[in-house]
Amino acid sequence: MATKPSAQPFLSDVKELRRRARLHIERGAVTDGYGGDVEQTIEILQSVLATEIVCVLRYTMHAIAGAGIDSEAVKDEFAQHAKEEQEHMMMVAERISQLGGTPNFNPDGLASRSASEYGKAGTLVDMIKENLIAERIAVEHYLELVRFFADKDSTTRVMLEGILAQEEEHASDMHDLLVAHEGKPFLPS
Ligand SMILES: [Fe+2]
Ligand SMILES: [Fe+2]
Repeated sequence: MATKPSAQPFLSDVKELRRRARLHIERGAVTDGYGGDVEQTIEILQSVLATEIVCVLRYTMHAIAGAGIDSEAVKDEFAQHAKEEQEHMMMVAERISQLGGTPNFNPDGLASRSASEYGKAGTLVDMIKENLIAERIAVEHYLELVRFFADKDSTTRVMLEGILAQEEEHASDMHDLLVAHEGKPFLPS
């Protein structure tokens, strides 16, 4: 028995792709194939952007203000993290722009848009603890977002997966610093 050719091919043919790409060129990178809700994605990414900005600010302050015995090596680690948080910030801002939004860098309301906190640590150990907590918030938040975007917006998901992997490294680095300081695992297993 001959199989009937499927009326709807799995992939669009090239002519159809070319036709659709010419429609709505004002939408830039956002095509009819975009599986998410663009406005909602932009809103979510504005909160991720705020989270990253707060992380840049906190680590930068710690890299400069941290003091005490062995503080130089710890401050170097803070400075490295500040640089990586800034890279995350830029990636997220670029993605918002690709989707047709304007990245919100407005300091007004920044703390409330952000998932993580700026903190108020005075000692080096408290700084490490605050960073660890902030990283754990980011990890939890981005894990949820990776699941949320799934295949609705794979570009945003892949970007967040990359950032997530680095936040996990950051959390692990902060945990190692605490272990080195306290001589025992800080977090219950
Ligand atoms: Fe980050
Ligand atoms: Fe981080």
